[in-house]
Amino acid sequence: MKNIAVLVSGGGTNLQALIDAEKSGIIKNGKITCVIASKPGVYALERAAQNGIKSLVIPRKDYADIASYTRAVTDALLAEKADLVVYAGFMTILDEQIFRAFPYKMMNIHPALIPSFCGKGFYGLHVHEAALAAGVKLSGATVHFVTEVCDGGPIIMQKAVPVENGDTPETLQKRIMEQAEWKILPEAVSLFCQDRIKVVDGKAVVD
Ligand code: GAR
Repeated sequence: MKNIAVLVSGGGTNLQALIDAEKSGIIKNGKITCVIASKPGVYALERAAQNGIKSLVIPRKDYADIASYTRAVTDALLAEKADLVVYAGFMTILDEQIFRAFPYKMMNIHPALIPSFCGKGFYGLHVHEAALAAGVKLSGATVHFVTEVCDGGPIIMQKAVPVENGDTPETLQKRIMEQAEWKILPEAVSLFCQDRIKVVDGKAVVD
C-alpha cells in the first residue's frame, strides 16, 4: 500500500475527488496519509479534518526564499514516508531539491491541455482566461509528473472538454473540473499506486 501525500493551497475539490475515490475503491493500493497546505485556513484543510486525514500547514510566507521553503516541504514529505506526492491545486513552484528527493514520484493536475496555457503565471482562473482569450474550442486537463520544469514533466493522462459559447472563466473552470480533473487525477493516482506508469525516454507510458 503506497502512502499518498497531497499538497494543497485552496478549496481542495481535487483533494475531495481523491478522498472519494479512495473510499469507493477507485484508488487501488494507495491511501492518503497526509495533506500539506501552503496557507492556513484553506478549505482543503477542513476536508482533511472531516475525513480523519493528518494535515500540516507549512506557510509559504514564513520562508524567505523558495529554496528554504522547498527544503521544509521536502523534509516533511520524507518524514511522512510519502511514496507519491500529488499537487492538487498547490500554487507554489518548488525548486529542483524536491524533484531529486521524489523523482517521478510527484504528479500535478493542470487545468488545460499541456503544452497549451501552462508554465509560470498559468494557474487557477488565469488558465481559463487565457484559453477563452485565444478562442480555443477545446480545453481540458492534464495530469503530469512534476519535474524541475514548471508544467513540463512527462504527461500521464489528459482529457479534453469543449468550450461553449458564452463561457466565462468560471463556467469553463467548473466544466473542466467536473468532466476532467476530478476523473483523471484519481485514475492517474491509482495507476501509479499499482506501478503501472513508467517513464521511458522522458515520456510517461501507462501500462
Ligand atoms: C484546479 O483547477 C487545479 O487544476 C488548478 O487549481 C485548481 C485548484 O482547485 N491548478 C493549477 O492551476 C496549477 N497550475 P481545488 O483546490 O479545488 O482542487
